[in-house]
Amino acid sequence: VQVDKSGHRHFMSKEIAEQPTVLGDLISRYLDGAEAEALAATPDFAKVDRLVLVACGTAFYACHVAKYWIEKLARIPVEIDVASEFRYREPPITAGTVALFVSQSGETADTLAALRYCQGKADHILAVVNVAESSIAREADSALQIHAGVEVGVASTKAFTNQLGVLALLALKAAADRGATPPEELERLRGTLRQMPGILSQALVRDEAIAAIASQLAEATDVLFLGRGPMYPLALEGALKLKEISYIHAEGYASGELKHGPIALVDDKTPVVVLAPRDALFDKTVSNMQEVMARHGKVVLITDRKGAETASDGTWHTLVMPEVDPLFAPISYAVAAQLLAYHTAVAKGTDVDQPRNLAKSVTVE
Ligand code: G6P
Repeated sequence: VQVDKSGHRHFMSKEIAEQPTVLGDLISRYLDGAEAEALAATPDFAKVDRLVLVACGTAFYACHVAKYWIEKLARIPVEIDVASEFRYREPPITAGTVALFVSQSGETADTLAALRYCQGKADHILAVVNVAESSIAREADSALQIHAGVEVGVASTKAFTNQLGVLALLALKAAADRGATPPEELERLRGTLRQMPGILSQALVRDEAIAAIASQLAEATDVLFLGRGPMYPLALEGALKLKEISYIHAEGYASGELKHGPIALVDDKTPVVVLAPRDALFDKTVSNMQEVMARHGKVVLITDRKGAETASDGTWHTLVMPEVDPLFAPISYAVAAQLLAYHTAVAKGTDVDQPRNLAKSVTVE
């Protein structure tokens, strides 16, 4: 397939901008179109005791978000692991386990080896891939496609949001199978997913505001990312994106862990990006943020309008994101994290699409 930058300076910015379209396409395929059958044909989750989600890199963080969704909505215990650890620790795979492997390329060596380890042990092996004819798709018992189109940028963007899209739909399907969440609530969440492409478009409108923050972030040597609940894995992903392409040292932490170590790093030179839609735990996150500000850390608060109204005092920057159900906020806040990394890298003049030492697909160990 021939792909070009369609007027963008980098593939990464093109792929960030494509997200409303590819996510919209994905959601209609799975809710109303040809992929509805593939979703319906996944195992009956009423009979599943445990899910194991395994991947590498950004795909692993998609699994980490999905753990919050599946446990909350479907009430199935979910274990997550990076493939390089999973494959060698010989984890016991008990009866009633479904193993799920997420991979953009479908060729990552560690993920494929972890899948092979589960063959003959797990009740069912499910793959979530972008490349339909890949090894991981072929060797799984069944595969769900993410339909993100070709992704060229080494730092994954649209594949991540579409992985989240498929995993959210899978969580809703599992919840329905188990009767673990009332049908009206599941319908409401399906409605939220249908609105998500529009929300991503609104998030993209923040591009200039984010570029302005990034021009200052580019001066930093260390950046912390904080989040709670499903925003915790997004903090990990935000830190990964930033370090991958801007070469600034960045760490993601669960907001509540701040006091157990990372706060020692905070001084007046440390930007701390707080990913916090106004959810049930927002006040707790605000108090973590205040601990950062008391040590003169520079808080970049990424929140919604209500969150900004109550908590923007004393921040370095506050970015107001479109309203979204906090459960699915990782999908739209991912766009902000990607743009922040992108513009920081552009400000630093690094090779955004081909960062040093990294490969798009790691097919050897
Ligand atoms: C590499 C890429 C990452 C990707 C990871 C997993 O490290 O640079 O962007 O997240 O591999 O790749 P996969 O194709 O399995 O999703």
